[in-house]
Amino acid sequence: MSNRLSRMIKPSDGKSVMLACDHGYFMGPTHNLENPRKTIEPIIPYADTLSVTRGVLRSSVDPKWDTPILLRVSGGASVLNDDLSNEEITTSMKDAARLNVAAVAISIFVGTAHEKQSLVNLSKLVDEGEDYGIPVMAITAVGKELEKRDAKYLALATRLGAEIGAKVVKTYYCENFSKVANGCPVPVVVAGGPKLKTEADIFNLVYNALDEGAIGVDMGRNIWQNEHPVAVIKAIRAIVHENATVKEAQQVFEDNKKSIKAELEN
Ligand code: 5RP
Repeated sequence: MSNRLSRMIKPSDGKSVMLACDHGYFMGPTHNLENPRKTIEPIIPYADTLSVTRGVLRSSVDPKWDTPILLRVSGGASVLNDDLSNEEITTSMKDAARLNVAAVAISIFVGTAHEKQSLVNLSKLVDEGEDYGIPVMAITAVGKELEKRDAKYLALATRLGAEIGAKVVKTYYCENFSKVANGCPVPVVVAGGPKLKTEADIFNLVYNALDEGAIGVDMGRNIWQNEHPVAVIKAIRAIVHENATVKEAQQVFEDNKKSIKAELEN
């Protein structure tokens, strides 16, 4: 278990830049993730962990790549349904072990009609993970209700995930985020959510989340829906692993944007 966790969260600084590409399990071929391999291949060298479903892992991830895998194992609803909370466990722990993943991830939907179901699903997964030595990440999902993302709600949902046995919790950044991170006895990472307006917005989110107690990010759309995904992830890495400020991250972004453009033109 510890060995798997330290593959995802770097023991040198206790931080992690996770690349989330698991959206297709309920969104289908969402913008810029239509062809998962094409999206993932250029960015994966800069990710500490890759989050995918088993379908994308099998079809689109080269087994020779050595980036640890965070396997999404919950699902059962699609964007066509207003209520996204009716999820079950969709991949067995036995298959997760066979796929040699570093951890598995499951959504919990606190305060919804399927609150109990999702929390019991998490508890079952944690029990099975203990048998195989596979850590579980709980994701405090909000479905389409993005306005739910405030400190009071996220602190509650995050803590519930940890209490049931998640080894890491993924949640959203929000105002007073330290209330969320401080109330959670296991490491917390933040998702990015829908695409933000500017790169500075992304770097501010990452900087503030780390400053207020997150150990990293598990971010998707704000990386691969950007016109310069490699430059964005490199700038995020600078904040997470090198304590860069927002200004310094913006510089890393601009420098990489230029050098990648020059490489392409040559
Ligand atoms: C999809 C997820 C995503 O992994 C999570 O939301 C992170 O991606 P993004 O930064 O695009 O929000 O859990 O259900």
